[in-house]
Amino acid sequence: MAYETIIVEIEDHVALVKLNRPDALNALNAQLLTELADAMGAAQKNDKVRCIVLTGSEKAFAAGADIKMMSEKSFTEVFTEDLFGPETAEISRVRKPIIAAVSGYALGGGCELAMLCDFIIASDTAKFGQPEVNLGVMAGIGGTQRLTRAIGKAKAMDMNLTGRFMDAEEAERAGLVSRIVPAKKLMEEAMAAAAKIAEKSMISVMAIKESVNRSFEVPLQEGLLFERRLFHSTFATEDQKEGMAAFVEKRTPQFRDR
Ligand code: HXC
Repeated sequence: MAYETIIVEIEDHVALVKLNRPDALNALNAQLLTELADAMGAAQKNDKVRCIVLTGSEKAFAAGADIKMMSEKSFTEVFTEDLFGPETAEISRVRKPIIAAVSGYALGGGCELAMLCDFIIASDTAKFGQPEVNLGVMAGIGGTQRLTRAIGKAKAMDMNLTGRFMDAEEAERAGLVSRIVPAKKLMEEAMAAAAKIAEKSMISVMAIKESVNRSFEVPLQEGLLFERRLFHSTFATEDQKEGMAAFVEKRTPQFRDR
């Protein structure tokens, strides 16, 4: 698929996916989400890719779902086409890690898209918010669900009910973002984090992603059992033998994803 609303570059083992609707602050429309889901699926299938970085522009990661696209839609339309459902489900099925590198606005669907990623590295200019309430609607891709799990009820209610924005400092304090970096260093830091992940055994990496995500779905004892069995299963891999041997022999491991 030729993309018009995103740019995909593969550097070493990292797929860098850049949202590219600068005139609309990367607002998410049907085309962008379809292209994004396709690019994520392609990155999942591409053996060369070991980590994905999703980013926007300096001014906006994404300023939300495209309001102009949505403004005339009826309930019947959005319900029947399951607006935003299939594409976001496809992105959440990607088993390789996805880092969101967020600069500027991450609002509404933009904040939700960042939360669909595995962790968020924010520039010091980042602003997060769920301002859908100002439009007479509400969040629809996780703003009341993933955000609540990430930052707790008090702040999630505050953000969703008032529509206020959270700056990078507050987002880090609240647990929404994993690190803050100066705007100029954002991509360098995100690509370095991705390169570090790309050095690991993909089996460990994918198992970790699956296990952390599982913690949101199941009770603690079930999650701990799931984790422990996955941990046990890594002993069936050559990478476990190599990783531990390399430690003992004081050398860098050469993982082969098997
Ligand atoms: C469509 C958008 C847009 C959006 C910005 N633009 N956000 N177009 N959908 N979400 C467009 C503007 O219309 C404008 O186009 C151009 O981008 C630049 O935006 P400005 O408003 O001129 O920029 P600025 O004054 O710097 O303000 C930036 C901003 C503001 C604070 C981010 O644009 C804003 O409040 N945007 C909307 C944020 C929002 O409400 N997001 C939630 C959307 S609902 P023109 O052509 O006029 O130059 C949502 C639902 C999720 O996300 C749930 C899904 C199921």
